[in-house]
Amino acid sequence: MHAGKGMPWWTWLATFILFVIVMWLSQAGPPQRGEDAASLPVPANAEKLVASADFDAVREIVTSRCSMCHAREPVWEGILRAPRHVFLEEDGDIARHAEQIYAQAGRSNAMPPGNITDVSMEDREVLARWYEGATGQKRHWLW
Ligand code: HEC
Repeated sequence: MHAGKGMPWWTWLATFILFVIVMWLSQAGPPQRGEDAASLPVPANAEKLVASADFDAVREIVTSRCSMCHAREPVWEGILRAPRHVFLEEDGDIARHAEQIYAQAGRSNAMPPGNITDVSMEDREVLARWYEGATGQKRHWLW
Protein backbone atom coordinates (compact mmCIF):
# COMPACT_ATOMS: atom_id res chain seq x y z
CA MET A 1 0.00 0.00 0.00
CA HIS A 2 2.84 2.40 0.92
CA ALA A 3 4.59 1.64 -2.39
CA GLY A 4 1.70 3.39 -3.99
CA LYS A 5 0.35 0.32 -5.74
CA GLY A 6 -3.13 0.60 -4.33
CA MET A 7 -4.91 -1.32 -1.59
CA PRO A 8 -4.02 -5.07 -1.62
CA TRP A 9 -7.67 -5.86 -0.86
CA TRP A 10 -7.38 -9.38 -2.26
CA THR A 11 -5.53 -10.48 0.91
CA TRP A 12 -8.83 -10.12 2.78
CA LEU A 13 -10.51 -12.38 0.28
CA ALA A 14 -7.68 -14.95 0.51
CA THR A 15 -7.90 -14.90 4.31
CA PHE A 16 -11.65 -15.37 4.17
CA ILE A 17 -11.38 -18.33 1.79
CA LEU A 18 -8.71 -19.99 3.95
CA PHE A 19 -10.91 -19.52 6.97
CA VAL A 20 -13.83 -21.20 5.26
CA ILE A 21 -11.58 -24.14 4.37
CA VAL A 22 -10.40 -24.40 7.98
CA MET A 23 -13.99 -24.43 9.25
CA TRP A 24 -14.99 -27.04 6.69
CA LEU A 25 -12.04 -29.27 7.63
CA SER A 26 -12.82 -29.09 11.32
CA GLN A 27 -16.44 -30.08 10.59
CA ALA A 28 -15.29 -33.09 8.57
CA GLY A 29 -14.04 -34.91 11.71
CA PRO A 30 -11.26 -37.50 11.99
CA PRO A 31 -10.70 -40.01 9.19
CA GLN A 32 -12.63 -43.25 9.75
CA ARG A 33 -9.91 -45.61 8.63
CA GLY A 34 -11.12 -48.55 10.69
CA GLU A 35 -14.62 -48.62 9.26
CA ASP A 36 -13.30 -48.36 5.73
CA ALA A 37 -11.12 -51.39 6.30
CA ALA A 38 -14.25 -53.41 7.02
CA SER A 39 -15.50 -52.97 3.47
CA LEU A 40 -12.24 -53.81 1.72
CA PRO A 41 -12.50 -56.64 -0.78
CA VAL A 42 -11.66 -60.07 0.57
CA PRO A 43 -8.40 -61.32 -1.00
CA ALA A 44 -8.51 -63.84 -3.83
CA ASN A 45 -7.24 -66.75 -1.72
CA ALA A 46 -9.91 -66.17 0.94
CA GLU A 47 -12.25 -68.89 -0.30
CA LYS A 48 -9.64 -71.55 0.23
CA LEU A 49 -8.88 -70.17 3.68
CA VAL A 50 -12.54 -70.14 4.70
CA ALA A 51 -13.29 -73.53 3.09
CA SER A 52 -10.36 -75.20 4.87
CA ALA A 53 -11.21 -78.09 7.20
CA ASP A 54 -9.33 -76.22 9.92
CA PHE A 55 -11.39 -73.05 9.60
CA ASP A 56 -13.94 -73.87 12.31
CA ALA A 57 -11.12 -74.41 14.80
CA VAL A 58 -9.43 -71.20 13.65
CA ARG A 59 -12.62 -69.18 14.04
CA GLU A 60 -13.06 -70.65 17.52
CA ILE A 61 -9.53 -69.64 18.55
CA VAL A 62 -9.69 -66.16 17.04
CA THR A 63 -13.13 -65.26 18.40
CA SER A 64 -12.28 -66.52 21.88
CA ARG A 65 -8.69 -65.17 22.10
CA CYS A 66 -8.44 -62.13 19.83
CA SER A 67 -11.86 -60.53 19.24
CA MET A 68 -12.11 -58.88 22.66
CA CYS A 69 -9.48 -56.37 21.54
CA HIS A 70 -9.70 -56.64 17.76
CA ALA A 71 -13.35 -55.71 17.40
CA ARG A 72 -15.32 -52.86 15.91
CA GLU A 73 -16.33 -52.20 19.51
CA PRO A 74 -13.64 -53.75 21.70
CA VAL A 75 -14.70 -55.07 25.12
CA TRP A 76 -11.20 -55.28 26.64
CA GLU A 77 -10.72 -52.65 29.29
CA GLY A 78 -8.49 -49.82 28.12
CA ILE A 79 -8.77 -50.77 24.43
CA LEU A 80 -11.00 -48.17 22.83
CA ARG A 81 -10.42 -48.98 19.18
CA ALA A 82 -9.19 -52.11 17.46
CA PRO A 83 -5.36 -51.97 17.67
CA ARG A 84 -3.81 -51.14 14.30
CA HIS A 85 -7.34 -51.21 12.88
CA VAL A 86 -7.13 -54.99 12.73
CA PHE A 87 -10.65 -56.41 13.13
CA LEU A 88 -10.84 -60.12 13.93
CA GLU A 89 -14.51 -60.92 14.35
CA GLU A 90 -16.07 -62.28 11.19
CA ASP A 91 -15.02 -64.92 8.68
CA GLY A 92 -14.08 -62.22 6.18
CA ASP A 93 -11.93 -60.47 8.80
CA ILE A 94 -10.09 -63.67 9.57
CA ALA A 95 -9.50 -64.44 5.90
CA ARG A 96 -8.37 -60.90 5.18
CA HIS A 97 -5.82 -60.94 8.00
CA ALA A 98 -4.79 -64.57 7.56
CA GLU A 99 -1.15 -63.84 6.89
CA GLN A 100 -0.91 -61.50 9.90
CA ILE A 101 -2.65 -64.03 12.14
CA TYR A 102 -0.18 -66.63 10.91
CA ALA A 103 2.80 -64.37 11.59
CA GLN A 104 1.67 -62.80 14.87
CA ALA A 105 0.04 -65.80 16.53
CA GLY A 106 0.80 -68.95 14.50
CA ARG A 107 4.54 -68.83 13.95
CA SER A 108 5.34 -66.41 16.77
CA ASN A 109 4.03 -65.46 20.18
CA ALA A 110 3.73 -61.75 19.35
CA MET A 111 -0.04 -61.83 19.84
CA PRO A 112 -1.82 -61.54 22.13
CA PRO A 113 0.48 -59.23 24.14
CA GLY A 114 2.08 -61.23 26.94
CA ASN A 115 -0.15 -64.14 25.84
CA ILE A 116 -2.74 -62.50 28.06
CA THR A 117 -5.63 -64.59 26.68
CA ASP A 118 -3.69 -67.87 27.07
CA VAL A 119 -3.27 -69.10 23.53
CA SER A 120 -1.83 -72.62 23.82
CA MET A 121 0.94 -74.02 21.64
CA GLU A 122 -1.65 -76.42 20.18
CA ASP A 123 -3.83 -73.49 19.15
CA ARG A 124 -0.85 -71.76 17.54
CA GLU A 125 -0.10 -74.94 15.65
CA VAL A 126 -3.71 -75.03 14.37
CA LEU A 127 -3.39 -71.43 13.13
CA ALA A 128 -0.09 -72.19 11.39
CA ARG A 129 -1.30 -75.44 9.82
CA TRP A 130 -4.44 -73.73 8.54
CA TYR A 131 -2.54 -70.95 6.79
CA GLU A 132 0.17 -73.19 5.38
CA GLY A 133 -2.36 -75.77 4.20
CA ALA A 134 -4.69 -73.31 2.50
CA THR A 135 -2.04 -71.12 0.87
CA GLY A 136 0.75 -73.62 0.29
CA GLN A 137 3.11 -71.06 1.81
CA LYS A 138 5.43 -71.69 4.65
CA ARG A 139 7.39 -68.86 6.15
CA HIS A 140 10.16 -68.68 8.65
CA TRP A 141 10.83 -65.61 10.67
CA LEU A 142 13.91 -64.93 12.67
CA TRP A 143 12.33 -64.48 16.06
C1 HEC B 1 -5.38 -57.61 25.07
C2 HEC B 1 -5.69 -57.12 23.75
C3 HEC B 1 -5.25 -57.92 22.55
C4 HEC B 1 -5.55 -59.22 22.25
C5 HEC B 1 -6.36 -60.21 23.08
C6 HEC B 1 -4.96 -59.48 20.96
N1 HEC B 1 -4.33 -58.37 20.48
FE1 HEC B 1 -3.48 -58.14 18.65
N2 HEC B 1 -2.92 -56.26 19.13
C7 HEC B 1 -3.11 -55.67 20.37
C8 HEC B 1 -2.36 -54.43 20.41
C9 HEC B 1 -2.31 -53.48 21.59
C10 HEC B 1 -1.73 -54.30 19.16
C11 HEC B 1 -0.84 -53.17 18.66
C12 HEC B 1 0.60 -53.57 18.93
C13 HEC B 1 1.57 -52.55 18.44
O1 HEC B 1 1.15 -51.54 17.91
O2 HEC B 1 2.77 -52.81 18.59
C14 HEC B 1 -2.13 -55.45 18.37
C15 HEC B 1 -1.72 -55.66 17.06
C16 HEC B 1 -2.08 -56.77 16.32
C17 HEC B 1 -1.80 -56.96 14.91
C18 HEC B 1 -1.11 -55.97 14.00
C19 HEC B 1 0.38 -56.15 14.14
C20 HEC B 1 1.13 -55.23 13.25
O3 HEC B 1 2.27 -54.88 13.62
O4 HEC B 1 0.62 -54.86 12.19
C21 HEC B 1 -2.28 -58.20 14.57
C22 HEC B 1 -2.23 -58.87 13.20
C23 HEC B 1 -2.84 -58.80 15.75
N3 HEC B 1 -2.72 -57.91 16.79
C24 HEC B 1 -3.38 -60.05 15.81
C25 HEC B 1 -3.88 -60.63 16.96
C26 HEC B 1 -4.32 -62.01 17.04
C27 HEC B 1 -4.28 -63.02 15.90
C28 HEC B 1 -4.77 -62.19 18.31
C29 HEC B 1 -5.31 -63.47 18.93
C30 HEC B 1 -4.47 -64.64 18.87
C31 HEC B 1 -4.63 -60.93 19.02
N4 HEC B 1 -4.07 -60.01 18.17
C32 HEC B 1 -5.04 -60.70 20.32
C33 HEC B 1 -3.91 -56.13 21.38
C34 HEC B 1 -4.45 -57.40 21.43
